[in-house]
Amino acid sequence: MEMTRLQKYIADCGVASRRKAEELIQQGSVKVNGIVVSEMGIKVSSSDRVEVNGSVIKPESKKVYILLNKPSGYVTTVKDQFRRPTVIDLLKGVDERVFPVGRLDYETTGLLVLTNDGDFTHKMTHPRHEIEKTYQATIAGTPTKDEIHSFESGLEIEDYVTSPAKLKIISTKERTCVIEVTIHEGRNRQVRKMCEAIGHPVLALKRISLGKVTLGNLPEGSWRELTRDEVNSLRNS
Ligand code: URA
Repeated sequence: MEMTRLQKYIADCGVASRRKAEELIQQGSVKVNGIVVSEMGIKVSSSDRVEVNGSVIKPESKKVYILLNKPSGYVTTVKDQFRRPTVIDLLKGVDERVFPVGRLDYETTGLLVLTNDGDFTHKMTHPRHEIEKTYQATIAGTPTKDEIHSFESGLEIEDYVTSPAKLKIISTKERTCVIEVTIHEGRNRQVRKMCEAIGHPVLALKRISLGKVTLGNLPEGSWRELTRDEVNSLRNS
């Protein structure tokens, strides 16, 4: 187990600078395993109980923010009751315990964010956050102008009406077309249900952006860390 000098340990916990931590130690404000320690130099590890002014402190774990290009055939959970592969299986080289932010269906591919930052997850998945999510979908047939209009202005699905959305036709074939859909909500299988509701079931679905963060050319099954700017843009969007 890694041993760290007490003043550095206190600083790593985000309680005070190293200099201020030394002062706290000299003042007798620091206890290690219940005993006041007032001389410098003692080493501690995370298994020691360190108190500053009566409060137990713990080192802050490093916050990581991962962007994964999820392939089809993976569940967006940490563990699956049916033992199917999970998105966590794809994060080789990530040592921190991260959790998915929101979810993509088993068959859906594309942009998925994972993090160990609980506040960030809470904010991003809060119903009022309404961050813009864009999907590329291959659907059966080609929607008419009227169908696009009802898709965009609100559809009655089960017990709710969808908020304003966007649908853009990217390319068409004889029996299918590729569209881009932008929504601000994140209800269960929402894009699939919306396309179904206008009579054009989804054949393939991929999330390509979340707010200002885009999937770019990250290969399927690969991951990268989000940049600081990307994390901030998601936080503040
Ligand atoms: N909408 C869906 O229908 N499925 C997803 O995975 C994401 C959004």
